[in-house]
Amino acid sequence: METIQNLPKINKKDFPLLENNFNSENKIIYLDHAATTQKPIQVLAKLDEYYRNFNANVHRGAHQLSTKATEEFENARSLIAKFIKANSTKEIIFTRNATEAINLAARSWGEFALKENDEILLSVMEHHSNIVPWQMVATKNKCKLKFVGIDQNGKLDIDDLKSKITTKTKLVSLLHISNTLGCCNPIKQITKLAKQKGALVLLDACQSLAHQKLDVIDLGIDFLAGSGHKLCGPTGIGFLWSRKKILEEIPPFFGGGEMIKDVYEKTSTWAELPHKFEAGTPAIAEAIGLAEAIKYINNIGLDNIKEYEKHITKYLFEKLNQIENLEIIGPTPQIDPNRASLATFYVKGIHSNDIAEILDSKGVCIRSGHHCCQPLHRHIGINSTARISMNFTTSQEEINIFIEKLKETISFLTINS
Ligand SMILES: Cc1ncc(COP(=O)(O)O)c(C=O)c1O
Repeated sequence: METIQNLPKINKKDFPLLENNFNSENKIIYLDHAATTQKPIQVLAKLDEYYRNFNANVHRGAHQLSTKATEEFENARSLIAKFIKANSTKEIIFTRNATEAINLAARSWGEFALKENDEILLSVMEHHSNIVPWQMVATKNKCKLKFVGIDQNGKLDIDDLKSKITTKTKLVSLLHISNTLGCCNPIKQITKLAKQKGALVLLDACQSLAHQKLDVIDLGIDFLAGSGHKLCGPTGIGFLWSRKKILEEIPPFFGGGEMIKDVYEKTSTWAELPHKFEAGTPAIAEAIGLAEAIKYINNIGLDNIKEYEKHITKYLFEKLNQIENLEIIGPTPQIDPNRASLATFYVKGIHSNDIAEILDSKGVCIRSGHHCCQPLHRHIGINSTARISMNFTTSQEEINIFIEKLKETISFLTINS
């Protein structure tokens, strides 16, 4: 059996929750990193430091606390810009989460730019966050939604995409890595096809940002939605990136303090980027905490993370494939070497909720259900799956324990075994 060494820079003790027993005899085994990641002590300490030492509103006060809070908040913005290789810090708009980032693109850009009979191209594997906002815009602006399917290997069907993209397509909005199938979509190839038809591309990078390097310019995309809590950062913080030219052209969606230049009784003018899109007091502590999380990830190195996760994913697949009646959905690591370090599966005759509940009683946290991907589950004809999702903290030993407990669970739930 291959022995997989933990990443040298990972100290499990950095993650207090992963050292916790809760109600179990042993430490919990957390395998739900695609839903949200655990937070290292460095992030917890930064949140504490902000509230203890320099809690103040940003961009407003003339006092030193506000100056310090503003400096840290704006440094967080620059760090995010560098993290995704954006051309300018002004192109990063803070939001509450990735869902809000996609809604912002849909309301500010979509409602402004889309005309009757224009088409928006999505895929059946999209998270609801990248479907529902476009349904709302499509209804309002009388546009059409089209969906790209998946191929026999559980990857995006590129031929289907080619057949559905036309000069009527104004936006292709896709996830980078599927939170359910785990496949990594060939974004560079897709942006090339989109540009040929004059369409913009939005990338939902929720499941890729913490797992591989990403360069918005090299990918050729026009919008990117990111989420802090999936990057070892706090909840309540996400961001939208877009090109300065686009952001300057489109109207803001939220109105209020902070986003204005001048307010008159009946009209207002807008602040410069990025503030034009950030009405009200932002999530200051959360943005600063997210910057600390990105520093933590940068210190480990995304190339090291990607390499490590490749090994544990291959190992997990080998182990799961040995279990009778268990089917994994999505491409194998051999078919998609860039796939996510997660596996979504079902066991014939057993509901995934039962598997997740029994595993939970054994101290193993996994997810079950539709994972906010109802269209995908309908497309493949299964209403519920179980998902185990890993990250750089997941050890080979944890995978072994999970497999052992999964086998016990299946055997317990199988009638006539
Ligand atoms: C692919 C994908 N897109 C969007 C989201 C929504 O992210 P957030 O919770 O930050 O709104 C998720 C969260 O699970 C996701 O996995």
